[in-house]
Amino acid sequence: MNILLMGLPGAGKGTQAERIVEEFKIPHISTGDMFRAAVKEETEMGKLAKTYMDAGQLVPDHVVIGIVRERLGKADCSTGFLLDGFPRTVAQAEALDQTLQELGRKIDHVINIDVNRESLLARLTGRRICRQCGSTYHVIFNPPKEEGKCDKCGGELYQRDDDNEKTVATRLDVNIEQSVPLLKYYEDKGLLRNINGEQEIGTVFEDITSLLRGQA
Ligand code: AP5
Ligand code: ZN
Repeated sequence: MNILLMGLPGAGKGTQAERIVEEFKIPHISTGDMFRAAVKEETEMGKLAKTYMDAGQLVPDHVVIGIVRERLGKADCSTGFLLDGFPRTVAQAEALDQTLQELGRKIDHVINIDVNRESLLARLTGRRICRQCGSTYHVIFNPPKEEGKCDKCGGELYQRDDDNEKTVATRLDVNIEQSVPLLKYYEDKGLLRNINGEQEIGTVFEDITSLLRGQA
């Protein structure tokens, strides 16, 4: 199953992706995670991406398209994949279509998690992530059992550099602007399905799995 998971920053893409890939046994391809790994490793691409990420701006299309093309060509993607946070512009969507055509594949589902701006602001500024296993928490909406510690592995929880109020506001503005033509692109192809992301995490997941199983 080939899935695109879309939604504005903080909509819950990472949170839902963790569960979807476990349920459907497909690789999770998050461009944001790939860039954060490159930043950590201090590669040339990481250094370049960091300047955009810290400013809340999108990394240039040709850089993102390059890493996704390479990733989709790997063997573990041959039976399916979940793309999280890609495409984010129409140019990226067109490049993805071309790549999939070359690979003889197609998109099965495009899921957009819909959440309003106010909720997104609250979600992003309260998000905490495990340094060890990458699990996502929220200080109010999804708190760990023990403050500052991951439930799954006991790792330390931290706040992402781009989750401060100023960068969050820019990220939302930039992504809202890009999302309008992008959603229309998939709507015109008859692929777009919207999910109400204002519900509890478990309910959002149930809605997504029903849709993926063709029961919605
Ligand atoms: P990326 O890492 O993809 O960040 P993002 O799109 O800003 O999305 P987030 O990871 O912030 O949010 P999410 O939707 O995954 O929400 P989460 O599940 O964590 O990208 C980072 C940067 O990389 C970009 O700004 C850009 O610079 C660059 N980049 C990446 N891809 C790119 C591309 N294709 N093109 C160009 N540049 C690119 O949830 C958020 C919080 O809410 C958590 O605390 C969670 O616990 C909580 N929460 C989740 N669901 C619920 C719920 N239902 N109710 C209450 N709380 C909830
Ligand atoms: Zn952990």
